[in-house]
Parts: sequence; structure tokens; C-alpha cells
Amino acid sequence: MTAKRSTTTATPADPCCFVIFGASGDLAHRLLVPALYNLAAQGLLPEAFAIVGVARAEKSEEAFRSELESGLRQFAIGKVDDEIASRLLSCVAYVPGAADDPATYRKLVQALTRVERARDTRGNRLFYLATPPSAFAPIGRCLGQTGLAREENGAWRRLIIEKPFGVDLASALALNRELLEVLHERQIYRIDHYLGKETVQNIMVLRFANGLFEPIWNRHHIDHVQITVAESLTVGSRGRFYDATGALRDMVPNHLFQLLSLVAMEPPSRFEAHAVRSEKAHALDAIHVPPGAAALQDCVRAQYVAARVGDNEVEDYRGTRDVPPDSTTETYVALKLMIDNWRWAGVPFYLRTGKALKARRTEVAIEFKRAPFAMFRDTPVDRLARNFLVMSIQPDECIGLQFNAKVPGPAVAISGVNMTFNYQDYFDAAPSSGYETLIYDCMIGDAILFQRADGIEAGWRAVQPFLDAWRNAGPRGLAFYKAGSEGPAEADDLLARDGRRWRSIA
Ligand code: BG6
Repeated sequence: MTAKRSTTTATPADPCCFVIFGASGDLAHRLLVPALYNLAAQGLLPEAFAIVGVARAEKSEEAFRSELESGLRQFAIGKVDDEIASRLLSCVAYVPGAADDPATYRKLVQALTRVERARDTRGNRLFYLATPPSAFAPIGRCLGQTGLAREENGAWRRLIIEKPFGVDLASALALNRELLEVLHERQIYRIDHYLGKETVQNIMVLRFANGLFEPIWNRHHIDHVQITVAESLTVGSRGRFYDATGALRDMVPNHLFQLLSLVAMEPPSRFEAHAVRSEKAHALDAIHVPPGAAALQDCVRAQYVAARVGDNEVEDYRGTRDVPPDSTTETYVALKLMIDNWRWAGVPFYLRTGKALKARRTEVAIEFKRAPFAMFRDTPVDRLARNFLVMSIQPDECIGLQFNAKVPGPAVAISGVNMTFNYQDYFDAAPSSGYETLIYDCMIGDAILFQRADGIEAGWRAVQPFLDAWRNAGPRGLAFYKAGSEGPAEADDLLARDGRRWRSIA
């Protein structure tokens, strides 16, 4: 094993003010402030830095600061250094008010004027929309109308928007239109936390920084691709949100399509936001969109039902709080997608994601075409193992190659073996939730890990036929699977029809 190499050296971001809309929410406490803390601990936050929170509740600045601090201590990954924490929270302002009330923005102007002067943040502002999605457009509109987000005198003004970005194609188009009326595309950073994961970012490096993969990365050598995001957690306390959303909207046009587009994209001309995002959007745009009811052939939607999992009794999805007893919302989806271009024509991309499955596992598995068997027909070998290149994103962070090897001994015997590269064996990474990279990138103006309007729209365009077909089908075709299982039998059939099978989740 080689000595571990530490992460790259980067310089502190520009002076700026970090404005959090939805500052009392879970996201702000659980992820944003701990991520800012990690950036501060790595020396990546500027000296001139201030946090301004905006939320409905009336509270003093002091109360807001101590809320942020206790959130940080609760959710930090690792030990909190008091000095770094107090430096991070040394300049905090709080603005109470509703996201669509002009009075909120008048107060925000005053707070910004005050902290920008106190901290000399040079007018640079990062607005983080950690609010429910219904507030995205009103906030964008108000920031635009009040001039708070106007870039002037060399100061930058940027907006990070959380997911979900729309609930279907029409709403995503409308949201993009609204935002782009008041902001430039270069100011909008649409987040997908999957792009903050090192192992996801590495897909591009694996493909394009090595001479050996790209020549075989196409329909001549690849049989099919499996993308799995399996979760063992149930819907839990998120019943209201989840039942209105479902597995497809929650995971596919965003997280799974990030993985798909990184695997399927053409090499960008340079490692730079415009080139990379253009290629990713082209890949999504080339997904064959099945017409009308044909979509039903290529998808499976299912709901989990009660089962004993380990020591726990998991109840039916329909028994979850805030979920109607006759809900037809899917907690699992499997899709077969074809990318209709020269590189991928004829190579199915099978995608699956679900809650309450046997294990937590996110991976991209690429199966290469099988070797001809003829040479072994007069030997004891009865079959060859499948050749997979597996990029494991979580919980293991590794890349594995499965191939056939001779079993030592006089007889010809062959066994599938595995060669694995584990990140932790090679690299020392600073504690991170992935949000650190995304926030830092936004602060330095690098949008490579954020979604552009066309990429978002291409994603929704590809899933819209499934949403439409399900709406028309109502409860017809909804399958069920036991909590703690590998998913519904119908998902196995989807691949079995093509003579293929899923890799095990466990
Ligand atoms: C979120 C979804 O975007 O991603 C959740 O809303 C899901 O339902 C989560 O659990 C999965 O993220 P991760 O990083 O745990 O794979």
C-alpha cells in the first residue's frame, strides 16, 4: 500500500457575506454551518466573512448565534475547536421575515450594509436558499427587484438553490424562466449534493485521466450499465413531503442522472464549467423518451410493505404518518433507459432506487461484453464470471474490477476475482459532507459541480413520460416489495426480459 496522500492545497475564498434563507431549518443547522466550520478549519474561508440568517421567527441575533453554535456542536463531523467556532460565528446577523414580504428585504439591506461595513466583505454575497421549494421563485424575484443580487462595482452576487428544482418539466421550466428574468445564469448555482461526493467527481477523472478506459467506453465493449441508489432507511418522518414526491422525483432527475450523465457524457474539451455541463446536458438530452404508454414497459414502480428487518418491525409505507392509506406513491423505481447516440445506441442503462431496501448502497456498475466461450467448451469450466467495473459511491468508497482468473491447480478451472482500489488506502481526506466543496466552489465562482438550466430541463424531459404514464395508470401497475428486501420481483423481470440480472444490493 502506498503512503497516503493528503488533499490538495487551495487558497481561501473571496471575502463575502453568506446569507441563509431558511436559517432556522434543518439544512442550515445540520449541513451548512458544519460545512462552513470545516472550511474554516481547513483555512478556506476568507478572514472577511459574515453570516446573515433570514427566517420567519422573531429572535435576537444573540439567540440566532447560539442556535447556530449548538447546531454545529450537534452535527459537526468530528471535534469542534472553540477558537475556530467562535471566529466563524463572530459576525452573525439575523433578519426575521417572510420570504415574499418586501419588508424582509428592506431589513436585509440594512443588515447587509451593517455587516459588510463591519467586515469589509467587499459587497460579495452568496444567497443560500435553504427553504421549501415554494419559496425559491419569490426569493429570486425579490432579490432581483430590490437590486440585492445585482452585480456592481466588481462585487459578485450568487444564489445557491437546493433541490427539488421543480416537480416536473413544466414547473422546472417555469422556475428557470422566473429566475433568469432577474439573474444571469452565471449567478445561479443549482445544487445536487451528489456532485459534492468525491467518488462521484472521480468518475470523470477515472474516465478521462486514464488511457485505458475511454477506448472501451462504448457500445462495442459495454453490455449494459446498472446505476443503483439503494437506501435501507424508510420514509420515516418525511411522510408529507415524500408522498407528494415519490422515489422518481426525489432521486432520478437529480442524483441518478448526475451519475448517468458522468458515465455517458462525451469528453469535454476542457475541465471547466461550460464545457463539462454542456456535455452532461447533451448526454441527458440523448435519452430516448418513450412515447405515451410505451413508458410503462420500461419502468417499475413499487411501494414497501411491512416486514421484520433485523430486530425491527418496519410498517407498511401506507402506515407512515402523513401518508394516505391508499397512497400510490412509489418508494422504489427501476427504469430502463436507452441513450440514442453513437456511443451508446443499444446499451441499456438500468437505474433503480428505493427506500427500506436490504442495504444502503450507491454504485455504478458497468458490465462489459462477455468473452466468447468456445475455447473452454471441452474443459470443466461451465461458465465465465461477468466482467464488471464497479464504482462504489457509498457506503464503500472504492472502484473494483471483476475479471476471470485461473484457479491454481492442474485442471482448468476459472473463478471470478476482484481487484479493488479503496480511497481510504490512498488518500487522507478532511472530514466532509460534500457541502464544503460545493459552498467553496460557489464562493470562488466555479460552477462545474452545479447544474445548469439546460441540464435540469433535460433531466425532467427524460422522466416526464414515466410521470405521465403513472398518472394515467393510477394504482394499476404499482408493485410491492417487502421492507428489507432487494426490491420487487417486477424489477428483476425488467432485466430478465433482456437476459440480464441486477447485482445484489447486499
Ligand atoms: C435526498 C433525498 O436528496 O437524497 C432523500 O431527498 C435521500 O430522500 C437522500 O435519502 C440520499 O442522499 P445520500 O447522500 O444519503 O445518498
